[in-house]
Amino acid sequence: MKTAENNVLLISDKKGFAVPAFNYSDIWEYKAILEAAELENAIVYTASNMRTAESMGVDYTGAWGKTSYILTDGNVINHLDHSRDVELCKAAVDAGYQSVMFDGSALSLEENIRKTKEVVEYAHERGVVVEAEIGKILGRGVEGTYEGNDFLVQVEDAVKLWEQTGVDSMAVGIGTAHGFYKEEPKINIQRLKEVNESVPIPLVLHGGTGVPYEVVQECIRNGMAKVNVGTLLHATYIERLRKALKTYTGNNVNDLMEMVKDAIIPKIREWIRVCGADQSRRMR
Ligand code: 13P
Repeated sequence: MKTAENNVLLISDKKGFAVPAFNYSDIWEYKAILEAAELENAIVYTASNMRTAESMGVDYTGAWGKTSYILTDGNVINHLDHSRDVELCKAAVDAGYQSVMFDGSALSLEENIRKTKEVVEYAHERGVVVEAEIGKILGRGVEGTYEGNDFLVQVEDAVKLWEQTGVDSMAVGIGTAHGFYKEEPKINIQRLKEVNESVPIPLVLHGGTGVPYEVVQECIRNGMAKVNVGTLLHATYIERLRKALKTYTGNNVNDLMEMVKDAIIPKIREWIRVCGADQSRRMR
């Protein structure tokens, strides 16, 4: 059994807030998350998807995570998001990530259980926590693409995945999607309640960008102990960079990128508050 020491989601689950997990693609987004979390005195996750981990290099993103974990007394948790590759999960554990996700949602339940278990055994021996996925997160993005109708988590599958793997937290498909929503998402709160009653580990809400705040908070009241937000940060980054490049005539990358970082920070702070995670470092 994981303790609150190495699984902060046990704290948020118990205290009724959610730890926000923000996706980063480079060091500037990473820095924006660190600074916003510091300003809000918040426990947060920094999350790299497979594409980021591979393009930055998992040893480098792992080293950033080791440093920020130490400098924040364990209040910033570096997480590998949506890895469909067991070996990448193991490499992230070896590189010093504090948390990894194995996303077996595209596999049969049996394969999902088998591979999640392999990751859990490897990670737990090294003090790292693991998130699994059951049901499917909709949408198109680097985190995966799914547009079918059978996205909804089945309670008995979630129970099996938890019982047979000993995983620490679970992302569940209840209607959220990665990327911007074309129309307001229809979130199945009833199914979330049923899973929450049957599975005792913290649950994770993916596809945060664009979900109305009151719906996010209803999800948190019903067991979501971690909320993932990515697209909003990336869209803000690119919009600010595009705008800055129209007027900036210098050669100083830091000047340019600090403008970009400063545009992202308020968005992160807002989401920290939506999740009720502001001042959460005091709750440990
Ligand atoms: P959004 O990009 O839709 O905010 O979702 C992020 C996410 O769920 C990453 O796993």
